[in-house]
Amino acid sequence: MTLTLEKPSPLHARGLIHRWRDRLPVTDATPIISLGEGDTPLVELRGPPEARERGIKVYAKYDGANPTGSFKDRGMTMAVSKALEGGATAIACASTGNTSAAAAAYASRAGVECIIVLPAGYVAAGKIAQTILMGAKIVQIEGNFDDALRLVREMCDSSPVALVNSVNPYRIEGQKTIAFEICDELGSAPEYHALPVGNAGNITAHWQGYTELFNDGTTSSRPKILGFQAAGAAPIVLGHAVEKPETIATAIRIGNPASWCYALIARDESNGVIESVTDNEILTAYQFLAREGLFCEPASAASFAGARRMIREGKIPDGSRLVCTLTGHGLKDPGTAGKLANLPDAVPATLEAVIKAAGI
Ligand code: F0G
Repeated sequence: MTLTLEKPSPLHARGLIHRWRDRLPVTDATPIISLGEGDTPLVELRGPPEARERGIKVYAKYDGANPTGSFKDRGMTMAVSKALEGGATAIACASTGNTSAAAAAYASRAGVECIIVLPAGYVAAGKIAQTILMGAKIVQIEGNFDDALRLVREMCDSSPVALVNSVNPYRIEGQKTIAFEICDELGSAPEYHALPVGNAGNITAHWQGYTELFNDGTTSSRPKILGFQAAGAAPIVLGHAVEKPETIATAIRIGNPASWCYALIARDESNGVIESVTDNEILTAYQFLAREGLFCEPASAASFAGARRMIREGKIPDGSRLVCTLTGHGLKDPGTAGKLANLPDAVPATLEAVIKAAGI
């Protein structure tokens, strides 16, 4: 490819609204707020062996490669563009960390205020730092995500501030584009799609994206959707809200998902499942993916943890294609990574010592 150095194209000319404009509710009057999100890598894994042996192809859709390090950017480019179009001068959300980072970034880019309500003590360090540095006003509450979402919804009901949690339909519109990218790259819909489930907006968005392509005849099938909650925060699996959700995967530490009913629709219409994975299964998957060169945050690894278990249990037919969404970047949660990564002691700065330490 040659470098032409023609007129530089603005950022909004390569984000997902630009690419999927005819499938999104935008008009010429919509100011496009973009950081060049979307078009993330779809990587075919080398393993696991139990999949390879049976011709099952496992792909990771690495959405941690979005500008703020998570899939939330897909929804936020739409939500903030539409909020601005509607005249909003401030946005707000509750968050386990990634929504807040995305909201802060897109609000800064749009030049509007951003207010974030967080569960104190349960947001990974990288996410808090991002959110603060990108200029959002943070309110930490002595409560969990479910409390934060209830409060922020009440706050937005009684003020002109736009709510940008995934109960905002424009968030779902942006996030559905992940299905478009996958079908475009694979040439058809995969047979299975696994993803982590927290507040259940993303499972709703995935299903909406696949369904739109199927309904207009672009694709001839839809995947079975496999949703995975953390065992200590698995209200949909249990069939009732969890008052005190607990999991190492803080991004999905949610006891009463706002889009619960849409998650059930995605599961049932697709003949899929929503199951739980333990923190141990999540950490094993997290480390396996890292050795595939894919550093994601713990919550993201829930997708692969559950998918791998289903492969082992013989529930995925030979020759299937299975995509796992890796929702957030590993650097978001340096605390969990650091506990598993042992740094060796320093050695003298001599060739002899380096060779010995390197074990060559
Ligand atoms: N993975 C990551 C990394 C997340 O941050 C989230 C949600 C999910 C999965 C689950 O997606 O809620 O649409 O089912 N994070 C939200 C937040 C709750 O505030 O950042 P979901």
